[in-house]
Amino acid sequence: MDYELILKDIKPTQEEQNDIDAMSDKLVGFLNETCKNQDISAKIAVVGSVAKRTALRGKSDIDIFMAFPLDVSEDTLKEKGLELAHKCNDAFDGTASHHYASHPYVQANIEGYEVDMVPCYEIEDGSQLKSAVDRTILHTRYVKRHLTPEGCDEVLLLKRFMDMTGTYGSEFKVGGFAGYLCELLIIKYGSFEETLKAATNWQYGHIIDLEDYGTGGQFNDPLIMIDPTDKNRNVGAALRLNKFSEFIQSARNYLSSDNKRDYFYPLDKHIDKESILNELEKRGSDFIAIKFDIPDMPLDTLHPQLKMTTEALADKIANEEFNVFCADYASDEKDTAVILLEMASSKLNNIKINYGPKIYLNKACNNFTAKYGPETCHIIDDFLVHAQKRQFTDVVQFIEDLFTTEHIRKIKVGKNLRKAILNSYEFTSIEDLAEDEFYITFLDDFINPGQYIVR
Ligand code: UTP
Ligand code: MN
Repeated sequence: MDYELILKDIKPTQEEQNDIDAMSDKLVGFLNETCKNQDISAKIAVVGSVAKRTALRGKSDIDIFMAFPLDVSEDTLKEKGLELAHKCNDAFDGTASHHYASHPYVQANIEGYEVDMVPCYEIEDGSQLKSAVDRTILHTRYVKRHLTPEGCDEVLLLKRFMDMTGTYGSEFKVGGFAGYLCELLIIKYGSFEETLKAATNWQYGHIIDLEDYGTGGQFNDPLIMIDPTDKNRNVGAALRLNKFSEFIQSARNYLSSDNKRDYFYPLDKHIDKESILNELEKRGSDFIAIKFDIPDMPLDTLHPQLKMTTEALADKIANEEFNVFCADYASDEKDTAVILLEMASSKLNNIKINYGPKIYLNKACNNFTAKYGPETCHIIDDFLVHAQKRQFTDVVQFIEDLFTTEHIRKIKVGKNLRKAILNSYEFTSIEDLAEDEFYITFLDDFINPGQYIVR
């Protein structure tokens, strides 16, 4: 496999690199100057993949951290940090918006670059940590010290491979590998291919402990990468089990593939509405699609809440004896979200067995027969049971009853979503869903869940 050819496409050109560096220098220069003039004691640093030389071409956000001394209060840090960031944004005619990680930061679009400006504390090691972002400067330092220029290229290959196979990105929506995790994997295994080979033998709970801290035992996660800058932190904490597994399988697929090059480029998929609807039809399932408006909320809150709501709804329905085959959600992240339930059947019979007490419990059995009348009760094994009429025989009726002010609290709905669902939800057909460019991709992913990990 000729990786040089791939790198030509995915590595920033010298010119692009120079442009980013020049832009970063200008921003840092401005921030430093402003700190000096206003007697703010923050140290400005470029961190993240731009600083580490591990940014993919065209994807580099410029991460700038403003590190305050530890004796500054959190309120001051926040206030001064955001003020600095906004000044910088204005000075360069950017467009800024607020975002929230463990604390707020400013994201600015400046001359086409996405610039993240994050206030943090200046710490020397993980034990002094005051907020989650404080480690980032230490990460940058560690990677710069331990990654050779060849290693940087290997990181690019690994990130690109993961991006194209759907496992890159630690944001909740993906639940995949963070950039820093990729860098540590290359530091550990030396190259992209060695990382993939190693991954084919990973087991659940695989521990990588570059600095031999011996602290891996405290974590219960699919992949445990002890943070070299903080022995009590697992860099793989955000990696979800299915993404860990998808990476292992895509590594196997890649290593035995004759089309290795294709793994570094987007899937050549031609989404055709008619054929997707046909595929869905062939499954013989009942599809229930629930569409609702989403409130204005940060994406790292939206996705967990959608996931929780979908799971809670599917559980509740299954609990009612409806046969849920599969459940998923999607959101355009702007206006709407959809929960899609694929039911083996959305209808039930009219009768339902209500399990009472075990037959040995004298008092409980008397209460049970008193409630329902002894003539309506019978025995299954050693349970006293009562056959009753089912309240809901159609899952749509059941959901309609559940999505009301009185009943919605029976399931765990994300707290920002409850009102939005109650006010705006509607059932929609998959045909209507397929009219929308975004949701047709969702349907395609729904019926072809394995398409990204193989070429
Ligand atoms: P980024 O998400 O921008 O990652 O976070 P990155 O390394 O720059 O990679 P890309 O190329 O933009 O995708 C910036 C820094 O924040 C810390 C890391 O130190 C990272 O370099 N970070 C971010 C984490 O430690 N964990 C995360 O899940 C995300
Ligand atoms: Mn970055």
